Amino acid sequence: MFEVRFNRWRDEINPTIKDGWMGDRIWEVVLAVGDFQAAHGVTGDIVEVGVYYGKFLFLLDVLRGEGETTWGVDLFEDHIHNVRQWPQSGVAEHTYYPARVRRDVDTWGQGGIQLLRMDSLALPRDWLKDRVRLFSIDGNPSAAHTFMGLVSATEALVDGGVVAQDDYLNPGQPGVQVGVERFLGGYNSRLAPVLYFQNKLFLTTQSSHWEVMDYLRLHLTAADLHDDKLCGWAYLRSGIEYVGDGH
Ligand SMILES: C[S@@+](CC[C@H](N)C(=O)[O-])C[C@H]1O[C@@H](n2cnc3c(N)ncnc32)[C@H](O)[C@@H]1O
Repeated sequence: MFEVRFNRWRDEINPTIKDGWMGDRIWEVVLAVGDFQAAHGVTGDIVEVGVYYGKFLFLLDVLRGEGETTWGVDLFEDHIHNVRQWPQSGVAEHTYYPARVRRDVDTWGQGGIQLLRMDSLALPRDWLKDRVRLFSIDGNPSAAHTFMGLVSATEALVDGGVVAQDDYLNPGQPGVQVGVERFLGGYNSRLAPVLYFQNKLFLTTQSSHWEVMDYLRLHLTAADLHDDKLCGWAYLRSGIEYVGDGH
């Protein structure tokens, strides 16, 4: 389905992206989500909060279709507000990446990628309301930013849309777990976790929970993505408590 765009990403775009954090097999999940959505007529924009050099953003952009936009939200040149996040990497990297990712978006984005320079906490509650099918959260890993990222995603997502929350269960980013659990146990009435793989928790709308899970189970086991990454999440539907026997 996405063969031409994926091959271009794999062979031409990804090898030139300078740096970033992305599992080496996460593309399998992204393509499966894209295939599921295409098969079920799920359309909409794509969002990533926390772009850095665009490693994951350009992969997500493989799925962008006609009339859709890929949005990247990041502090970019206001990175000074973020220096505590990478104490080990030094200031030079922080000053370098915004210009570089802007250049790469011009080179590879074909006019379909929009970058927004802002703190994700300032995103309006109704931003892209009911217009997004894929929403990646990988910005500030505080509990508050994580929680609000999931709120933004809930408002923006269409039915059958998917959220990718980075760093869940990463012991180096405990705020993410707190934010996710606060969201699932409180605000949430719409999303359900479906898969945990390579540092990312994937959630979808409850209306499509079983369909998405079955689709991933069918298509990802072939690629050695075992059920244990999926099945525990079958029980997490409307909160963090287990509900029933999975159906
Ligand atoms: C872990 S990096 C993102 C990695 C990226 N997704 C990739 O594929 O390599 C985190 C990014 O979030 C951005 N960021 C940090 N705090 C933010 C905030 N409050 N709002 C928006 N972006 C933020 C940082 O500037 C940085 O570029």
